[in-house]
Amino acid sequence: MRKPFIAGNWKMNLTTREATALAKKLVESLAGVTQVEIGIAPVYTVLPAVAAVVRGSNVQLLAQNLFWVDSGAYTGEVSGPMLKDAGCSHVIVGHSERRQHFGETDESVNKKLKAAFASGLVPIFCVGETLAEREQGRTFAVVERQVKGGLQDIPATDAAKIVVAYEPVWAIGTGKTATPAQAQEVHAQIRSLLARLYGQELADQVRIQYGGSVKADNIAELMQQPDLDGALVGGASLKADSFTAIVRFQG
Ligand code: PGA
Repeated sequence: MRKPFIAGNWKMNLTTREATALAKKLVESLAGVTQVEIGIAPVYTVLPAVAAVVRGSNVQLLAQNLFWVDSGAYTGEVSGPMLKDAGCSHVIVGHSERRQHFGETDESVNKKLKAAFASGLVPIFCVGETLAEREQGRTFAVVERQVKGGLQDIPATDAAKIVVAYEPVWAIGTGKTATPAQAQEVHAQIRSLLARLYGQELADQVRIQYGGSVKADNIAELMQQPDLDGALVGGASLKADSFTAIVRFQG
């Protein structure tokens, strides 16, 4: 019913030569995969070059961030229409590294989600608690605040298209994956929150990815959980072999 969606977040890595080489390998190794939706998110500077490589393939192009104004005096920023122009279909919004290092708040994430929809980009909306928040028993309170704040005033017609990524901050780049049960618990809570906000039918439609140290050897058991609909993969998406194995988790 919900097609799994596996996306690679390349973060601040790879030059044009490296990025196009990796994209070429993925286009080849993932050709013919239809049961999983696939995306890669390179840095801004290589988007047009990678777009040329993935054009016509089943590998979609994602951006890692956007600004909410279309154009103007905002030195260093990139807008939704510019990302569309560069060949992106999706954009990651509210990644925890942006919240931690670049001052993103639920309010700025909300503006970015609205801007993504306005530009015809599908947002991958990231939420997740820190280790301290989990240890204080505040995991769901934090995730609930992030989801509600991010989706403030976003109509159901847009919310129906969103992809949510649950990424516990303590699991990102640490090698400490959430257990399938820990991930499932939060995914189910997010889905019931979406049902409260927008109704059960919409909540059943929205894909919720898990992110945080996803690897070829843990993807299959994570994907067995009923509310896990894919993954947002960082480190393991930088090598063709490991990302291919993750996407091909069904064998
Ligand atoms: P990781 O990153 O797979 O390297 O833990 C995931 C992410 O930040 O999206």
